[in-house]
Amino acid sequence: MNALDTLVQPDRVHRSIYTDADVFNAEMSKVFGGAWVYLAHESQLPDPNDFLTSRMGLRPLIITRDSDGGLHALFNRCAHRASIVCQAECGSARRFQCSYHGWTYSNRGDLVNMPYPEGYPADFHKADHGLAQVPRLGTYRGLIFGTLNLEAPSLAEWLGPAGPLIDGFVDRSPSGRIEVRNCQRMIYRGNWKLAWDNAGDGLHPTFAHRSFLILNERQHGGARSLSQFKASPDDTGMYGADLGNGHMFVDQRPGLHQSFWETQRPVPGREWYAEQIEQSCGDGAADVLEMAPGSMINLSIFPNLLIKGNHFETVDPVTVAETRLHTWMVAADGAPDEVNVLRMRIAEDFPSLGNPDDLELFERCQEGLAIAEVEWVDMSKGLDHEAEEVDADGVARAPVTYEGPMRGYLRAWLELMSSDVKLTTAAAGEVTCEVAA
Ligand code: FES
Ligand SMILES: [Fe+2]
Repeated sequence: MNALDTLVQPDRVHRSIYTDADVFNAEMSKVFGGAWVYLAHESQLPDPNDFLTSRMGLRPLIITRDSDGGLHALFNRCAHRASIVCQAECGSARRFQCSYHGWTYSNRGDLVNMPYPEGYPADFHKADHGLAQVPRLGTYRGLIFGTLNLEAPSLAEWLGPAGPLIDGFVDRSPSGRIEVRNCQRMIYRGNWKLAWDNAGDGLHPTFAHRSFLILNERQHGGARSLSQFKASPDDTGMYGADLGNGHMFVDQRPGLHQSFWETQRPVPGREWYAEQIEQSCGDGAADVLEMAPGSMINLSIFPNLLIKGNHFETVDPVTVAETRLHTWMVAADGAPDEVNVLRMRIAEDFPSLGNPDDLELFERCQEGLAIAEVEWVDMSKGLDHEAEEVDADGVARAPVTYEGPMRGYLRAWLELMSSDVKLTTAAAGEVTCEVAA
């Protein structure tokens, strides 16, 4: 591997950060291990003994809630001969039995049973053979994060200015809570950072989503959601921000000058659901309807959670050139059912129809990056203005088409990748869980 700091320069990055398997392997420990990684949302495990399977980089995990309500992130890896212990996506279980030779674990990770126990050495103790676990967990407004790095900053410190922006997203729900529901799964043949570059990229919608914009214009006309990218997006007041630690923010709200509900494209059942809400909510109906369309923000929590519209996207690296992208529908807890049905219908609008544009382009980028002789990827737009963009809160905000958020996350990436992190695992009972909010 070349010295990393030659690969990330102020105005450009080297192709190998997207193509080099050594860089990818280092990322799987230093970033997807050394940093706080988003694992799941508490609403996916509402009851004691609920579980779901997740990943931290390449490490398969079982996230469990034990019978007392405690959270655990167990490595989904049998302590005997390494088989995956749980194949289900989610469910309720007090025990997990490995299919290979029957070792059985509690949902706290203890080895509770093994068949034919005769013959093991005298110093073999079940207590030493539980499932290894993620040693540090943290939650923020129901979002569960984990790190293998005992020296990592606190979760609140790691999130920094992204924390209040998560609050804003969650507080659109009447109860101040969200529910993460099921997801749509996509996979692309490209490096995971292509999705990360794109998440802070306000330059691409005008072009990458051109067919969507034209359809939008032809069928519905006027100022509909996404029309803010039709022409000269930098004249709309929309901006991008580098929030530090790799987190990024794109605020599209200044681009729409009327109610988000009014600018939303028609979706199946829109009028009927709106009528139900108007009947049941009377004068408050307009405010209730505003919970249905997307938030008009793109908040990216490094390294693997994108909060957009009314959904979460998780970025799940598979190989240096293959990534899974899951789009999780987020419901507003406490809102009328009609609002949440509309949120689902609206989630079928842009993410379902728009994401394939992006994924197709990620694959085209990966194809272009294969040319070894053409080495650099340009990220210089707005570079000369960076110093002027830092506000009193220390956050750099810039016109939405500038590439500052990308440069910012890559600086954080470089710092993590250049650091000396020590990764550890824990046994049952040794885990800490911090509640950041
Ligand atoms: S590999 Fe799990 S019991 Fe043998
Ligand atoms: Fe896009």
